Amino acid sequence: MYINFWYPIAAADDVREDKPLRMEVMGLRYVAFRDDKGTARVLRDVCVHRGGSLGKGWVRDGQVVCPYHGWQFGGDGKCTKIPTLPADKPPARAKVDSYPTTERYGIVFAFLGDLPEAERPPKPEIPEWDQAGWRANSLTVFEVGAFYERSMENGLDPSHNEFVHPAQGSPNMNQDLRRKPLDVQDVPWGSKFLVRFENEEKGTEALGEKSTLVPEVEAGSGHIGPNSMITWINFSETNRFSQYFFEAPVNESRTRIFFVNMRAFLLEPENDERIAKVNLIVAKEDIEILEELDPIRTPDSTTKEVLVPSDGAVLRYREWLKKWDDNGWRIDLKEMRDKQGDVAYAIPCPERRTSGNWVLDPVPLLPPQG
Ligand code: FES
Ligand SMILES: [Fe+2]
Repeated sequence: MYINFWYPIAAADDVREDKPLRMEVMGLRYVAFRDDKGTARVLRDVCVHRGGSLGKGWVRDGQVVCPYHGWQFGGDGKCTKIPTLPADKPPARAKVDSYPTTERYGIVFAFLGDLPEAERPPKPEIPEWDQAGWRANSLTVFEVGAFYERSMENGLDPSHNEFVHPAQGSPNMNQDLRRKPLDVQDVPWGSKFLVRFENEEKGTEALGEKSTLVPEVEAGSGHIGPNSMITWINFSETNRFSQYFFEAPVNESRTRIFFVNMRAFLLEPENDERIAKVNLIVAKEDIEILEELDPIRTPDSTTKEVLVPSDGAVLRYREWLKKWDDNGWRIDLKEMRDKQGDVAYAIPCPERRTSGNWVLDPVPLLPPQG
């Protein structure tokens, strides 16, 4: 798990002006609420007084109030009121980490890291969102009892479809391509590939209906950063799906996925439900497999697995992760596990680069391996 990327925090509708929302991301709790301008704010859910959960409190005047002794914090994380202090200003140390947010596609994302704006990875993008001829299904949020990198790698694996996805007609990779290394291409902050799938017998069951069966499909996927995955399914030039999976590691063995399905055909709204239903069946087929993987987290060394050419995109994904290891952005999970219950950590927010005096320890990071 990595600091310095954009993570999906909540469905935008669930982030409110009248009530804080709590959630866990990468093993740490956060609180989300809207300030008096309606802007979504995301803070570490630990009150620096004596450890209260801000998310169990309430929102007053666009600020969050701790339920334990009523300390009040603004969207910037600074304490504005301490009921047991006279009218004086709260001390400078009374502040919690507050993270940059962006709201798009019905999702509130937070940048969990301390990089200044100019150095950050790009905000999550769905280029089809505003394009004519495309339609989005409403946002689907679901959880998987698996480590997020396992989930990402599953999305980057073209050879599982034949075995895992009868709901899609068990598409098998083209016979010539399946034994060759995947043609994986780099994009900014990630990589992608496209291959051909065929199904001589049944055709690929695009939407669970005979009328949509096609004998050949071009499909593939890609990742941006460690936790955004895109799947492209091109039944033809015009009949296309682009599926966006924004993944939030909840902890070391659980992932929350924010899924947006874009389509360039069957544009009538009455198709939404049918498409959502098929997508859900397909997701369940993946979840069945993912929740049983052993070990839960990807092994540190490829000697603990037998990788073959069709795992090329998985390997490329791991090479990208390695680059972010080399930036020193990887959280030291063992150290965090070790201190669990003794230390409340925070992913350092950008403000920590310009001001000192922070109460919570920054999360332990693995030093770059060089
Ligand atoms: S712990 Fe939050 S106000 Fe005391
Ligand atoms: Fe799958």
